[in-house]
Amino acid sequence: MNERPSTSRATEPLHATRHCFAAPRFADESVVLADAYRLLDDAVIRYQGHPVGTMASLDPRAPADNYRDCFVRDFVSTAFLMLLEGRSEVVREFLALILRMRGQQEELEGQQIAPGVLPASFRVVTLDDGSEELSADFGDRAIGRVAPVDSMMWWTVLLRAYVRFTGDTAFAHTPEVQRGLRMILSLCLQSRFEVFPTLLVPDGSFMIDRRMGVFGHPLEIQALFDMTLRAADLLTVDEGSHWLIDLAATRRQVLRDYVRRYYWLDLDVLNEVHRFSTEKFGHDIDNVFNIYPESIPDWVPDWVPDNGGYFVGNLGPGRIDFRFFSQGNFLASLSGLATREQSRLQMQTMADRWDDLIGQMPVKLVYPAVTGSEWRLMTGSDPKNTPWSYHNGGNWPVLIWPMVAAAQVAGRQDLGERAYRVAEQRLMKDGWPEYYDGRHGRLIGRRANLHQVWSATGLLLARHLLEDPGRLAQLALTEDEDSAPRSGRGQGERGGGRA
Ligand code: GLC
Repeated sequence: MNERPSTSRATEPLHATRHCFAAPRFADESVVLADAYRLLDDAVIRYQGHPVGTMASLDPRAPADNYRDCFVRDFVSTAFLMLLEGRSEVVREFLALILRMRGQQEELEGQQIAPGVLPASFRVVTLDDGSEELSADFGDRAIGRVAPVDSMMWWTVLLRAYVRFTGDTAFAHTPEVQRGLRMILSLCLQSRFEVFPTLLVPDGSFMIDRRMGVFGHPLEIQALFDMTLRAADLLTVDEGSHWLIDLAATRRQVLRDYVRRYYWLDLDVLNEVHRFSTEKFGHDIDNVFNIYPESIPDWVPDWVPDNGGYFVGNLGPGRIDFRFFSQGNFLASLSGLATREQSRLQMQTMADRWDDLIGQMPVKLVYPAVTGSEWRLMTGSDPKNTPWSYHNGGNWPVLIWPMVAAAQVAGRQDLGERAYRVAEQRLMKDGWPEYYDGRHGRLIGRRANLHQVWSATGLLLARHLLEDPGRLAQLALTEDEDSAPRSGRGQGERGGGRA
């Protein structure tokens, strides 16, 4: 079959209101925003004449062919923009299309992927006779064959944003959407071998989609899991789904208590871990994961701020991954998985460790980088993930929008503004790189694509949020008072505290 990905330039701009912002805040800001919109327009993917997504990158030198695909996680920031800018029909089209592609996994040879799993990315292929075909990747073609666990989660977050923003509950109540939601929730809530309420996933199952020691119970997946469980409120209440709604609510409560309590790290918690006794059996013990104090990395004692705190990156038997993963921390604040106090302390950490976490480009994906034999063993000697590059301590511009959002939730709009200003000054000039390298993100990433679409949409979305913090609630990203589970441990306390 002779295939060509349909990447034709858009014939009309995707967004309806090009200059929808109030007066620019900084000199040249409007030039930067216009350039971001240009990149977005050029990246539009159409199917049967309608916009249905955006390519991940327009860099002709991108190292992998699938950068011309529309990635579900990448499109989410574009989709939020579309909602805010009056193009909700594009979002609806995207949501419906992704769901329809679910069927393609049944055609995969060999192993059956669980129902409910949604594709990492898709493309529109134009055949010789001019007809168009959708082609999805469920991780069966992706580099390293990584499982896109976060796709179904981002899809539910976006669905909820779409329904809340437009009031189109009729769409949520269509049989296809109800069926999709039930499959996703059932898959996440299936009983497995686990004793923890967190979700167990393989390596590279989310934004960090390469081997980086993020298998097990990574924070970002737990934050997205929490947001996915919240979407059970879109299920119609009937005989068939009542049990699922109840199960989702219970699990969410348990998950929240657990993450708030055990993932939280501040100086008090670190002191406890530092003095842990080990090899304890039974229920009423403090060191429940049997963490050896000797496993605390050298950088940790000096780095954990006096007046801040954050959620660690991963937790399991004998294992705390002390690294700071920005996206997981931001999403936890945003969705209310973190208590208010934890959100505040997390932003204090951003402020106190500004050079490490923001530096010359917001935001460091993971701090710190792994080096030497740890890098060799953890990444499999991955030359793209060398220390302080890409997923291993690179700075990712797309993270500006969750950073701004988390700052607003924590009442630190000033930090969001400050980070935005850093990003705004460099991104267009540098050609919208995918990521930056170096301890402080000073260099354009060695193997980074230019014209990376979510680097532009992340900035545009951050700009919307800065202009009107109420947009977070309009997009159903923050917790409503009435849908919040009962307060768990750690509410109002300093951090989560361990028993
Ligand atoms: C890289 C990133 C992934 C992103 C994809 C497309 O693989 O790690 O998070 O979705 O590029 O931009």
